[in-house]
Amino acid sequence: MTDSPTTESPVEPTTSVWATGQQQSRVQRRDRYLPESMSHPGKMLPSIAARVISTYTRPGELVVDPMCGIGTTLVEAAHLGRHAAGVEYEEKWARLAVANLSHARIHGASGSGRVVAGDSRNIARLLPDLLGQATLVLTSPPYGAYTHGHIRSTRDTGEPGVRKWNQHYSQDRGNLAHQQLPVLLEGFGRILAGCVKLLRPNGVVAVTVRPYRVRGELVDLPGHIHQVAQSAGLVLADRIACLLCGLGEGTLLNRASFFQLHEARKAWSRGLPVHALAHEDLLIYIKPTAPAAALASDLETAPERE
Ligand SMILES: C[S@@+](CC[C@H](N)C(=O)[O-])C[C@H]1O[C@@H](n2cnc3c(N)ncnc32)[C@H](O)[C@@H]1O
Repeated sequence: MTDSPTTESPVEPTTSVWATGQQQSRVQRRDRYLPESMSHPGKMLPSIAARVISTYTRPGELVVDPMCGIGTTLVEAAHLGRHAAGVEYEEKWARLAVANLSHARIHGASGSGRVVAGDSRNIARLLPDLLGQATLVLTSPPYGAYTHGHIRSTRDTGEPGVRKWNQHYSQDRGNLAHQQLPVLLEGFGRILAGCVKLLRPNGVVAVTVRPYRVRGELVDLPGHIHQVAQSAGLVLADRIACLLCGLGEGTLLNRASFFQLHEARKAWSRGLPVHALAHEDLLIYIKPTAPAAALASDLETAPERE
């Protein structure tokens, strides 16, 4: 990956690893989220959201998630005393995000949260009072039905075949989760460009994203998202591997999903020694004080130094 050049406070991207998989996802959610939250097919790990929010914001600041699903970003922000706003395309998930926020408040969360049901490709129009207010935008794009949902295999059921459920966000074909990759990326680019307007100068955009396989072929979604973020004028600041596996006494505790193991096994059977992923990429960007595009064009026209 390459960075856009900047002329002021050049950012040297750092790389790090966070141990965010010490507890299984459902253990992290127990009592903190309403049980019906489990039916959402692509939730963010609460430990990743909490670590991002505590690293890049302070209490009282505003965190926005333009694709908030059942509200993981908002709930973790509220528990950490930050204020949060989310947009979600599907009304049923937006309602669940509101319910999860109320649940958090009942359990002592001091931050406030609000949720709008709508299309974040117009986020600046959906949240006009928040222009220039947010310290952090934290989000994760959908990947389509390939990698989501819950699974029971022959091993679990004793019956032949695989049973899959909760793999769809909705029946609405307008949801970006149901679009082909080019449309998803174009839409995500519009969402990021809108989010930039909500950010303060030097505000942060954090995107959690994984590569996935379709019929054995690796789709480098983090690489595509990086291109889109650069086109939205954002500058890469940090690149973090958030572990999905646990760290034990000298061992890794495997928490690979059914989909990952299934794809890896199929590849091995074809003679391809691919690995199941044990981490999620976290890409951290900064909104430069001057738009990166303007800086880039300044650089192009600047006279060369001796
Ligand atoms: C990967 S999920 C995010 C889940 C969320 N981080 C959570 O933990 O619940 C992506 C979400 O984006 C929503 N979405 C898809 N297209 C959208 C759009 N144009 N505007 C807003 N939300 C959208 C989907 O319905 C889905 O809930």
